[in-house]
Amino acid sequence: MSQAITFLLDGIEIAAEPDQTILEAADAAGVYIPRLCAMKWLSPSGSCRICTVLVNGRPQAACTQPVAPGIVVENDTEQLNAWRRDLVEMLLVEGNHYCMFCEKSGFCELQALAYRFGITAPKYPYRFPRREVDASHPDVFLDRNRCVLCGRCLRASAEMDGKGVFGLVGRGSHRLLSVNAEDGLAGTDLAATDRAVSACPTGALLPKRVGFAVPVGQRKFDREMIGADIQAVRT
Ligand code: SF4
Ligand code: FES
Repeated sequence: MSQAITFLLDGIEIAAEPDQTILEAADAAGVYIPRLCAMKWLSPSGSCRICTVLVNGRPQAACTQPVAPGIVVENDTEQLNAWRRDLVEMLLVEGNHYCMFCEKSGFCELQALAYRFGITAPKYPYRFPRREVDASHPDVFLDRNRCVLCGRCLRASAEMDGKGVFGLVGRGSHRLLSVNAEDGLAGTDLAATDRAVSACPTGALLPKRVGFAVPVGQRKFDREMIGADIQAVRT
């Protein structure tokens, strides 16, 4: 086993393995760094930037940045949380996130981040996109209007399901989630039980016919703030 190193995270000395990222070391120590595109067991992509921390004063994505001996990392600061709040607000207005009508409400990580950062109404104007909804699959529904392009379904499908059902096409504001069949999800070998479906942090990918299996008010983020499970490691 490699020699453990230490670094400072918000003034606390943290022990880490040299091959860990800052996010992994923080999780193991029970310190929550907000994130959206990162997910345990998946390779990091560093695309959403919500996990941005300051490393020796420079902004870095905690999910891709490796630990190093003696680095000074800032995480839970007013400035960083203001940047994260801005990113979440931009994601909320960029898609159609009608939480009160969405089956994912209470399990949605975007909604939970909005609650954590105290967002009641985004300060940016809503864009109300009209993107294609794919209901062709017998067991899975895809609503691109709720997709935040985090790529978790892509990586889960390729790395865990061994299928490669999803991809991304287009650039900038025209970027969209694609599937590897011309006739939509129905033409793919996706199954409702695939990790790709459960990896989606929003209601963009949902299994059909399981609505309200857990009543609203009793769902994960109805009961605890996002990150509480990680912080519980420390308490
Ligand atoms: S469908 Fe879900 S998991 Fe896939 S990119 Fe969109 S938000 Fe992320
Ligand atoms: S969680 Fe690190 S960039 Fe998205």
